[in-house]
Amino acid sequence: MSRPGLFITFEGIDGAGKSSHIEGLAAAFRAQGRTVTVSREPGGTPLAEKLREMVLNDPMDALTESLLIFAARRDHLRNVIEPALARGDVVLCDRFTDATFAYQGAGRGFDLDVLSTLERLAQTGLAPDADLMREPDLTVWFDLAPEVAAERLAGARVPDRFEAQPVEFFRRVAQGYADRAAAAPQRFARLDAAQDRHRVWQQLTSVFVRKGWLAIMVASQGGPQ
Ligand code: TYD
Repeated sequence: MSRPGLFITFEGIDGAGKSSHIEGLAAAFRAQGRTVTVSREPGGTPLAEKLREMVLNDPMDALTESLLIFAARRDHLRNVIEPALARGDVVLCDRFTDATFAYQGAGRGFDLDVLSTLERLAQTGLAPDADLMREPDLTVWFDLAPEVAAERLAGARVPDRFEAQPVEFFRRVAQGYADRAAAAPQRFARLDAAQDRHRVWQQLTSVFVRKGWLAIMVASQGGPQ
């Protein structure tokens, strides 16, 4: 019997450490026979990766930024995420629409109602049910104090337009994530990302074991190297 697809997204401020756990989770799902599609936003298709380069590097206002991000998202949904879900894959996506509400909305102070309108436009009409607005089945939120994230990022690489923002920006982004999580508690799983990597991995896998999506044996064998 074919299993239904799962759409799982990973969120948190820059430096929260989410990226390093996504591959581990992909390996855990593959170990129990699932096909996994790993992707990221902005990005995930040739067009969306071009838009990502612009969004991360070229100066622009918050509306332009939001339009480009949602354009990238629609292309990604249409060409990667929806086909993968239709095949029954587990889709693990590094960031999705919660990031837009947190960064463009809370961080840049852009109108949340406009973002909701763009969300509906960009995320509807692509699934088999044409009226469905595609949203994640689960969003894993790596919650970390902005001051700690800034320390982890310091000197790591040349910062992009977001990483170069002051800590106050990330305080607003973190609050934006907290607001999104409070508005959709059944979709969000919050992890305490201040703990060491192994403990974060344990928190992460226990979420999936509780949901019945990962077997406890598979979960306990994997983890960060
Ligand atoms: P990130 O996942 O942090 O990539 P990397 O680990 O390679 O730096 O994402 C890139 C940046 O894009 C990040 O700073 C957050 C920002 N972003 C938004 O501002 N809005 C969005 O909707 C998305 C998806 C990302």
